[in-house]
Amino acid sequence: MSSFVIEASGLSKSFGSTHALAGVDLSVRTGESVAIMGASGSGKTTLLHCLAGITRPDAGTVAFQSGGAGRVDVTALSERERSRLRREAFGFVFQQGLLIPELTAVENVALALMLNGMPRARAEEYGRGWLAALGLAGMEERRIGQLSGGQAQRVAIARAQVTGASVVFADEPTGALDSVTSADVMGALIDSTVGQGRTLVVVTHDAAVAGRCSRIVDMRDGRVVGERVAA
Ligand SMILES: Nc1ncnc2c1ncn2[C@@H]1O[C@H](COP(=O)(O)OP(=O)(O)OP(=O)(O)O)[C@@H](O)[C@H]1O
Ligand SMILES: [Mg+2]
Repeated sequence: MSSFVIEASGLSKSFGSTHALAGVDLSVRTGESVAIMGASGSGKTTLLHCLAGITRPDAGTVAFQSGGAGRVDVTALSERERSRLRREAFGFVFQQGLLIPELTAVENVALALMLNGMPRARAEEYGRGWLAALGLAGMEERRIGQLSGGQAQRVAIARAQVTGASVVFADEPTGALDSVTSADVMGALIDSTVGQGRTLVVVTHDAAVAGRCSRIVDMRDGRVVGERVAA
């Protein structure tokens, strides 16, 4: 029985009169892949951001079980401590990769390590390794605009992995891709996270994407309304 890497309880978050989260409990085990599904506006992104320490909930707690530092109460951390936790322990993949267009593929990946203090040459060496692992050998020096949508998402996945993140959060990572490329990118995302003993939490509208995960959490109106085993 593996342990929980993230445990959220009683999460509520409002924006004005909108109750984006209205009491969510969700625990995620180490090495598990969880898909969060639900209609537009049901609170998926808000939940992901609370779990990842990007947004602080109005009520409720998020605990992260870190390898080194034991159990961390994410909701009690300062802005600065949360930002450090995100840099060191978490990886992120978004719909549009949020890559820096002026930088090459390898520079985009290396940047994540350089922000953690690694010298450029070493960071780029690691970056090249991850790009190769994601099937992008030979494309290291291309700028993002010179890559296809699926290739750019693989760069984003490499960037999310390169720091050794124990949990990767993805919000509609295949939302801008066709179904074949989407299956491809999702395969790469699962292999490079769960396949390496890491944990994946992914928001998606796509049943095929969710079907690749070990568990599906359904949301409606800021609440978890159901859980299913996918595979
Ligand atoms: N920063 C914000 N300011 C105001 N309202 C917000 C903000 N962020 C989210 N909301 C509102 O909270 C609710 C939940 O938003 P959220 O982004 O979590 O939905 P979602 O399930 O991710 O939707 P989508 O599938 O469209 O991405 C929505 O009604 C949204 O308008
Ligand atoms: Mg969203």
